[in-house]
Amino acid sequence: MQKQIDYSEAIKTKYPEQVVIAIAKDSAGKANPVTLGWTMIVSGSPPMMAIAVAGRHYSIETIRHSKCFTIAFPSSDMAEAALFFGSHSGRDTDKFAEFDCQTAPAKSIDSVILPDAVANFECTLESETIAGDHIIFVGKVVTSHVNTEPKKRLYTVAPGHKLDKVQ
Ligand SMILES: Cc1cc2nc3c(=O)[nH]c(=O)nc-3n(C[C@H](O)[C@H](O)[C@H](O)COP(=O)(O)O)c2cc1C
Repeated sequence: MQKQIDYSEAIKTKYPEQVVIAIAKDSAGKANPVTLGWTMIVSGSPPMMAIAVAGRHYSIETIRHSKCFTIAFPSSDMAEAALFFGSHSGRDTDKFAEFDCQTAPAKSIDSVILPDAVANFECTLESETIAGDHIIFVGKVVTSHVNTEPKKRLYTVAPGHKLDKVQ
């Protein structure tokens, strides 16, 4: 049986929600990481992934400028980094300079990857679409990386950006 309720209540059933960190460079060459929950795989062959970024975010400018981005799957021990990257704007902060998080150059695109993450996907920008108050960027995965150590992914497990692993 189902009962009709407001969207704002019904959507609270979505947890756990995966967390990714997308990274693109701005026109000054600064790599800007942004934490995102709204993301999905959209094609298997070729492999493509999509991210939804709010129109006011600096990441819109960085992705449009560089026409490529990395999608990192942060590990469960990267919650503090995810919260920092998800609560500061690259418009007025150099997030990688302010928060200690290891980076390495991407192999195929002009961006960086996160060596401590569970996996990293280097994407070239294929398209962008307006969806309400967010812009959906679709990227084609050109290079993939996985951690050589076994690590668990980071999720949002409850409202208010409560981050943790799931079993
Ligand atoms: C767990 C978590 C998930 C988030 N998910 C999204 C998302 O899916 N889309 C989005 O636009 N912002 C999301 N945010 C907010 C952005 O990460 C945040 O506003 C960030 O500071 C924007 O940075 P920028 O201005 O450098 O792009 C999320 C934040 C957190 C902590």
